[in-house]
Amino acid sequence: MTNALENKRILIVGGGRGIGAHIARRATDGGADVVVATRGGEGPRLDVLDEASIASAAQEIGPLDHVVTTASAHHDVPVADLEHDKTIDAFGAKVTGALLLAKHFAPQVRPGGSFLLFSGVVGWKPAPGTIVKGIANGALEYVAAHLAVELAPIRVNAIAPGIIDSGTWDRLGEERKHALLESAADGGLVGRHGTLDDIADAALWLLGAGYVSGEVIHVDGGARHR
Ligand SMILES: NC(=O)c1ccc[n+]([C@@H]2O[C@H](COP(=O)([O-])OP(=O)(O)OC[C@H]3O[C@@H](n4cnc5c(N)ncnc54)[C@H](OP(=O)(O)O)[C@@H]3O)[C@@H](O)[C@H]2O)c1
Repeated sequence: MTNALENKRILIVGGGRGIGAHIARRATDGGADVVVATRGGEGPRLDVLDEASIASAAQEIGPLDHVVTTASAHHDVPVADLEHDKTIDAFGAKVTGALLLAKHFAPQVRPGGSFLLFSGVVGWKPAPGTIVKGIANGALEYVAAHLAVELAPIRVNAIAPGIIDSGTWDRLGEERKHALLESAADGGLVGRHGTLDDIADAALWLLGAGYVSGEVIHVDGGARHR
């Protein structure tokens, strides 16, 4: 962790598990004051699909330096099986959610602060059954660029991870998860799937990178280029 984050106050939405929880651990180890907000559990309650919860969490949390959101709602089905409400929620978690977090938290971000959003490699690698996540991830790239302009000088950036063994793929069952991680290793340029530390390293760097704004950093082992 760079010294730039020592004693900085960092809100992590979705920090209860997976990539968000790992960034929270790494930032805390590095001396940051981390606030984890989740839909249920310890800490402030924040559901990005519920604007009132965002507004009240902003009041409860007060001034801070950085806001990270990993919120994501999965609807990984082919077009023939699309469900309206799940599609809207997937965009709500990634796209509208990021906008509403900006609306309610930007006024509380201290000078030098930033937002860090999460996209994903599938936005750049269309495949059957991933259309909702892919398009939401693609839209997030524009969210980062537009918010960076509108909120300036607050910085806004995004990370687009490749396939990371974050716990989220456990929902596939052991066999399908193993196959996914193997194909991710084969489908990239560096011969392995990603780790939580790959993403946390990039996240902590970006939070402290005071001359970077409106960018999407691809941490995907080069998978986009295959
Ligand atoms: N893991 C990968 O291979 C991978 C690849 C590409 C991109 N990404 C992106 O990286 C980010 C983190 O992924 P992940 O692997 O840690 O797992 P994930 O399953 O995508 O994590 C989702 C997180 O979002 C939270 N969340 C869901 N809906 C929410 C809502 N309405 N309001 C607030 N929080 C909400 C969940 O909290 P609860 O505990 O409350 O459910 C959980 O902490 C996501 O944006 C994901 O799309 C991940």
